Amino acid sequence: MSISTVVGNWKMNMSVAEAEALATAIRALLTIPDGTLALVCPPFPALAVVAEVLAGSTIGVGAQNVHPESSGAFTGEVSTTMLFETCSHVIVGHSERRALFGETDDFINRKARAVTEAGMTPILCVGESLEDRDNGRAEQVVEFQVRKGLAGVSGAVVAYEPVWAIGADRGATPGTAQEIMAYIREVLSDLSSYHSASEVSLLYGGSVNHSNIQTYTAQDDIDGVLVGGASLDAESFCKIVELAYR
Ligand code: 13P
Repeated sequence: MSISTVVGNWKMNMSVAEAEALATAIRALLTIPDGTLALVCPPFPALAVVAEVLAGSTIGVGAQNVHPESSGAFTGEVSTTMLFETCSHVIVGHSERRALFGETDDFINRKARAVTEAGMTPILCVGESLEDRDNGRAEQVVEFQVRKGLAGVSGAVVAYEPVWAIGADRGATPGTAQEIMAYIREVLSDLSSYHSASEVSLLYGGSVNHSNIQTYTAQDDIDGVLVGGASLDAESFCKIVELAYR
């Protein structure tokens, strides 16, 4: 059985001082139920200070992105070598990076491999656009992203974030999310690098908050959530973590 997981993706928000204050508030408020993993993913400049605030707690720290090479002439980029001391997890393939920064599935796969080689866990994000869904291609798109993204990678977390449900008024219905996530689990069980698909944590992301979290985690194949907007408030993030246990 995979463990309940809640990941807060802070995206490009907050000054370093604000990030420090949020991490401090989360540490003070949060009681993590046994069997639950809670992580926050601050922007790069705040990683060190957030890791310091959370050191010795049960709240983990992840990064939002990484470059696949370990060092060199890649101006503006950050490598696994710079992350492994503070982070246990790294988000790769977020739809914002795919859409706004032109990241391909091959490039995302290189990142996922680099993350595992450095001893961290990639959180591979996959999800179809509204156009894909309207054209009946949701499963096909997601399957391609999972197969390409995880080629040769074992030990990842997979987050299903339909593009149309991110930062929206409403997320996917729990039934819609379950349908695709059951399919993802099936695809995973077919990958040679995954011997036990039932142990992979599958997260749903897209407009999750403390009022709807349990409608998602009540589904068979939803082990946790990847939260954007609602993770920027300590109380709301802590409530989500406390309600996530299944
Ligand atoms: P929201 O929770 O703000 O919809 O963002 C979801 C997301 O993109 C998390 O990675």
